[in-house]
Amino acid sequence: MSLLITNIGELVNNVPDSDGPPGPGPFMSFAGSALVIDAGRVAWTGPAARAPASDEMIDAAGRAVLPGFVDSHAHLVFAGERGAEFAARMAGLPYAAGGIRATVTATRAATDEQLGANLRSLAAEMLAQGTTTFECKSGYGLTVRDEARSVALAAAFTPEVTYLGAHVVPPEFAADPGGYVDLACGAMLDACAPQARWVDVFCERGAFGPDEAAAVLAAGIAAGLRPRVHANQLGPGPGVQLAVRHDAASADHCTYLDGADVDALASSATVATLLPGVEFATRQPYPDARRLIGAGVTVAIATDCNPGSCYTSSMPLCIALAVREMRMTTEEAVWAATAGGARALRRTDVGHLGVGARADLIMLDAPSHAYLAYRPGVPLVAAVWQAGQRAA
Ligand code: NIG
Ligand code: FE
Repeated sequence: MSLLITNIGELVNNVPDSDGPPGPGPFMSFAGSALVIDAGRVAWTGPAARAPASDEMIDAAGRAVLPGFVDSHAHLVFAGERGAEFAARMAGLPYAAGGIRATVTATRAATDEQLGANLRSLAAEMLAQGTTTFECKSGYGLTVRDEARSVALAAAFTPEVTYLGAHVVPPEFAADPGGYVDLACGAMLDACAPQARWVDVFCERGAFGPDEAAAVLAAGIAAGLRPRVHANQLGPGPGVQLAVRHDAASADHCTYLDGADVDALASSATVATLLPGVEFATRQPYPDARRLIGAGVTVAIATDCNPGSCYTSSMPLCIALAVREMRMTTEEAVWAATAGGARALRRTDVGHLGVGARADLIMLDAPSHAYLAYRPGVPLVAAVWQAGQRAA
């Protein structure tokens, strides 16, 4: 069954060579458009007046259609919550990575059913807000058993599963952090690698140093995983350079960068994934998106959804923050939340609506993508299709 969506007020397709007025960078949008979905793929796009006949038709009545959001960074396998920690931060305390251990305790105590139910509800929240692809990390288990069940649970919801055994050193290894790195590079990795696609490490003071992080990435790569790195979140450090050296798909956070970090990203295939919800929820300074874009770095935006540093599942909120707080244009922010996220996952089938793309798309209850920042906090995602099926 083919489906024609016609009378689209603005079709954002992110296809740079399509026949229309060029946007900034690779963002592309068209007025008066139509799109045909067939067999789960985008089969045709063009002016509404030239749309081919289809089995079914939807009149968008001037509303905007965009690629579904690609949330390339989320930590959704956890139990419990840390609302009191957030409230204390808002009352003046700083964010500290040590809060992760509270979630580790709760996660270890939870049943598979409890973890799965929490994950299911977060995934449903994401879908309702227009996220059609998401990445999901382990990292709140930190034992062989708890990391293995975390990746297994995540794999039931997304192919983009990341092994983050090297999130922090758990308390039982406080006196032997090297022993924990050995475990994360050994038995824990062996138990997780078959169900994961990515390996990640939190390279930060208080988490893992450059040598430990390099060992984790090397072991993960040797086990068939591809690297991505939590880098330069809480202060300057070696994470970004480490990510680039390993040809990581993404260096995530990038809050504290020096000139050499920006240059390294600019001359690499590593995407800088910015997570402005974290700065919103921790009162840290926002990353300098303009400097990165100005240097030619590919930028993605993601939520980092987790119970500690940023408990939002909303890509529209992150777009609004990117525009308002990081001075990205509305086009740049929407591109970063769709095509940028796809690049951060090294995916070519999502994040755009070129012919042949997976038919992952959203219709806004608004005439243009700009409304995602112009009307922050308003539920504008009116309909979601995933692989051509109406999903929300
Ligand atoms: O991406 N930086 C490391 N991990 C998460 C925070 C997790 C937490 O605080 O529970 C992050 O911000
Ligand atoms: Fe994170």
